[in-house]
Amino acid sequence: MRIDVFTIFPELLEGFSSVALLGRARRDGVLDLRIHDLRDATTDARRSVDDAPFGGGAGMVLTPGPLFQAVETTDPPRPLYLLGPRGRRFDQSVAEELAGLAAGASGGFSLLCGRYEGVDERVSDHLVDGELSIGDYVLAGGEAAAMVVIEAVSRLLPGVMGNEASAQDESFTSGLLEYPHYTRPADFRGWEVPEVLRNGDHARIERWRRLKALQRTIDERPDLIVARGGISDEEQRLLDAEDPDRSS
Ligand code: ADE
Repeated sequence: MRIDVFTIFPELLEGFSSVALLGRARRDGVLDLRIHDLRDATTDARRSVDDAPFGGGAGMVLTPGPLFQAVETTDPPRPLYLLGPRGRRFDQSVAEELAGLAAGASGGFSLLCGRYEGVDERVSDHLVDGELSIGDYVLAGGEAAAMVVIEAVSRLLPGVMGNEASAQDESFTSGLLEYPHYTRPADFRGWEVPEVLRNGDHARIERWRRLKALQRTIDERPDLIVARGGISDEEQRLLDAEDPDRSS
């Protein structure tokens, strides 16, 4: 998959993407991440990318010139998304949608990191294909958001996760939070790993994990239960069998 990122802080993204899962994916050639410095597309000696807002007010606005220049000379994979707090909310289903673009005509997508108080509106109107937000809070710029998007998408690409099954088996894929995980020692300071996980009965283990994922999601993220369309009859039976008091 190819992902192009346009930013005035390329070193932030280079650092983040050169180690761990992303570093390996880049070295293995699964992820073709191209980071473009917007200042390389400036024409003045000071390499300026921002200016004061028309109409007055606090802060600086990214000027359209270098942004259009950088994107037009690169011709990056589309869609191209501007990162900013007013964008479409990025979640696991958007991550899956973006990962699917690896197999599409452009082979990927691109990200443009906003900065300062904002980006000249003509960039939204005439350069990008859409906008993405990672949540309802305001960051100083789109770089941290770009890292979130790139990591969430990349780990869905075939060959990126060490254990292919784990991306599949996960919480948000089936609309539930993850079941609890344990490793050695079986007894840590008197806190024991549940007996069911230690007896090798795989059908029982699976039932237990499903039950824990359900209970955890009902208790901590009831909104996710609503979003997935409620609880199936089979799941309700599982909950009732475990603890009749919990059923309602
Ligand atoms: N830039 C500033 N805030 C942001 C947010 N919440 N999501 C994406 N990019 C941003």
